[in-house]
Amino acid sequence: MKIIVGISGASAASLGLKAYDLIPKNHEKYLVVSKRAKTVLQKEEGYDNDDISAPIASGSFGSDGMLIAPCSMNTLAKISCGIADNLLTRAAAVTIKEKRRLVLAPREMPFDPIALKNMLRLSRLGAVIAPPILGYYSDRQTIEDLERFIIGRWFDLLGIENDLYRRWGSR
Ligand SMILES: Cc1cc2nc3c(=O)[nH]c(=O)nc-3n(C[C@H](O)[C@H](O)[C@H](O)COP(=O)(O)O)c2cc1C
Repeated sequence: MKIIVGISGASAASLGLKAYDLIPKNHEKYLVVSKRAKTVLQKEEGYDNDDISAPIASGSFGSDGMLIAPCSMNTLAKISCGIADNLLTRAAAVTIKEKRRLVLAPREMPFDPIALKNMLRLSRLGAVIAPPILGYYSDRQTIEDLERFIIGRWFDLLGIENDLYRRWGSR
C-alpha cells in the first residue's frame, strides 16, 4: 500500500512520527509536516509543506490512504471547507476527492463547537475521525503500550496489518 502521513502543529506530533516509523517496510510511505508541526517537533523530514507540486498533491499519485496525526484545529478547519493552501491540506483534499481513506486524529482539549462541526462535516464526507484517545485496559502498563494501541487502531482504519496491540478477546 501507499500511505501518506501528515503531521500538523498540535501537541503529540511525536506520536504521528512514531506512526510513520512503525509503518511496515512492505508499504510505501510518504511524510508531510506542517511548518507549525516542525516548531512543535523540531524535526525536518519528508516533503516540504510549501512544495505544492510534490507528487502527493496529485490524484494520479494514487495513494491508498492518508493519516493526519495529530491534526490541529487549524488544519481540520481548512480541510473541512476545502482549503488546500499547503501540501498537507492539498494532499488531504486530494484524498477526499479520490475517495481514498482519510484518517484524522484531531488533538485538542476540550473541543469547541467549531471543531466539533468540522469533524461532523468531515465524517459525513467519509473521513474517519480517530483522536489519540488512550485505552485504559489493564494489560497496558506503559506510555509505549498506550501509544502502540492508538497507532495500531489508526493502522487498522487504514488497512495496514499490524500486531501493535492485543485485540479485545485475544489472549
Ligand atoms: C507547543 C504547541 C502546541 C500546540 N498544540 C496544539 C494542539 O494540541 N491542538 C491544536 O489544534 N493546536 C495546537 N497548537 C496551535 C497550532 O500549532 C496552530 O494553530 C497552528 O497555526 C497550526 O498550524 P498547522 O495546522 O498548519 O500545523 C499548538 C501550538 C504550539 C506552539
